Amino acid sequence: LAGVGALGGTAATWRSALAATKAGQVVFPKDFLWGAATAAYQVEGGWNADGKGPSIWDTFTHQKGLGRIKNDDTGDVACDSYHKYKEDAALIRQLNLKSYRYSIAWSRVQPLGKGAVNQAGLDYYKRLTDAVLEAGARPLVTLYHWDLPQALDDEGGWTNRDTSDRLAEYADIVGRALGDRINHWAILNEPKTFTHLGYWEGIFAPGHKDPLQMLKATHVVNLSQGKAFRAMKAINPKFQVGSVCDVANMVPRTDSEADKAAAERYHRFLNLWFLQPVLDGTYPDVLPADQRDALLGFQPGDEKVMRADYDMVGLNYYTRWVVADKPEGNGVPGLNTSHEWGEGPHAKTDIGWDIDPDGFHDTLVRMAKAIGNRPIEITESGAAYNTPLVDGHVKDEKRIAYMKAYFAALSRAIQDGAPVRAYHAWSLMDNFEWAQGYTQRFGLTYVDYKNDQKRTIKDSGLWYAKVAKNNGF
Ligand code: NOJ
Repeated sequence: LAGVGALGGTAATWRSALAATKAGQVVFPKDFLWGAATAAYQVEGGWNADGKGPSIWDTFTHQKGLGRIKNDDTGDVACDSYHKYKEDAALIRQLNLKSYRYSIAWSRVQPLGKGAVNQAGLDYYKRLTDAVLEAGARPLVTLYHWDLPQALDDEGGWTNRDTSDRLAEYADIVGRALGDRINHWAILNEPKTFTHLGYWEGIFAPGHKDPLQMLKATHVVNLSQGKAFRAMKAINPKFQVGSVCDVANMVPRTDSEADKAAAERYHRFLNLWFLQPVLDGTYPDVLPADQRDALLGFQPGDEKVMRADYDMVGLNYYTRWVVADKPEGNGVPGLNTSHEWGEGPHAKTDIGWDIDPDGFHDTLVRMAKAIGNRPIEITESGAAYNTPLVDGHVKDEKRIAYMKAYFAALSRAIQDGAPVRAYHAWSLMDNFEWAQGYTQRFGLTYVDYKNDQKRTIKDSGLWYAKVAKNNGF
């Protein structure tokens, strides 16, 4: 696989990169959907435009001087997609994308997270969606990509069971307003990330450091998946509805039985925690059985409420986690596990995450079985490489090499039976990378934040456009 060596480290030995080709070609099923993804808070800006209410990310980033966000950056302007969405649609067309995944900012639609609807907010998403359709892409819309209306956080946010009903109400409003244009819906983005980092590690909004609050939040989130699914299906049974989960290859740090068991616990608590409740009505075995209901706030009948027969599942894959047993515990009863992320000599992207195409393959094959062979869409995958803009060009060969290795792994996972029908690159363009601010660039397109957010397609974007056109490389 020419070029993969540019990644450095152990790249030359990745079996996925070497094994996926048929006569030097990496191939994909007919009608495979090549796409790209973004999320509202990361690209839109317009944080208080036309009646939008504040979200927890507005609050979190506006509290400066706490070392939360690199350079105290905010999403106030971001890529200014609220005003420049037509330029984004032009990129979609130039990149030959057949699918575009974007999210709706809840507090643009319902400024207080309940009650009154802001028509101007809905109108923005109508205009954006029309531009996406005109550019020839299928919209895949995420209802919740982490920007909870602040007014709901004031009442406990995801630890308050009422939030699950609020999400269903919001889903109903959006589904009715946009269902004539949009057929594919992801209810939540990465529930594991926003509950763990928002309520346990405290590095994402709303910034709490409490494992017990985190556990309660995970259950409310699971209830909300069932409720929002039914709200959407009641509008149109033909809607294709699912959620997006981030999954990772859980690698035991040593060969010890204790570390292997710890990696399995992480698989259950991180990869399966927001899928098994929905698809099966049960929680994976992690918490002590006699404490589980109290820890989660689980009430009789909840097993039915959280259930939803998803039409598809979105998976985000970036990197592996190196997992170790931690006998003294980590605050979550029964979990007793710790992890490292990007430690050691393994080849890495600029954000420091291990490059892991083999883990992509293995995790996909494993997850496909766990989710009952429902259609899978890769809803995000990609790399931060902070290659500069020089004379109008961004020569990011490393991102091309990264994509080659990951696409070879994906092709091989499909050959090995994982029913993947779409791939969305993270991201259509550089954007606000949460606690990293604007320091990490994941885009196929460069955004010049100092020059009116001017967009320039990177070399990797030009390469990706060819892959999308030829359905392989
Ligand atoms: C996952 C998240 O969904 C997205 O918002 C984020 O920017 C990327 N991964 C990269 O960290």
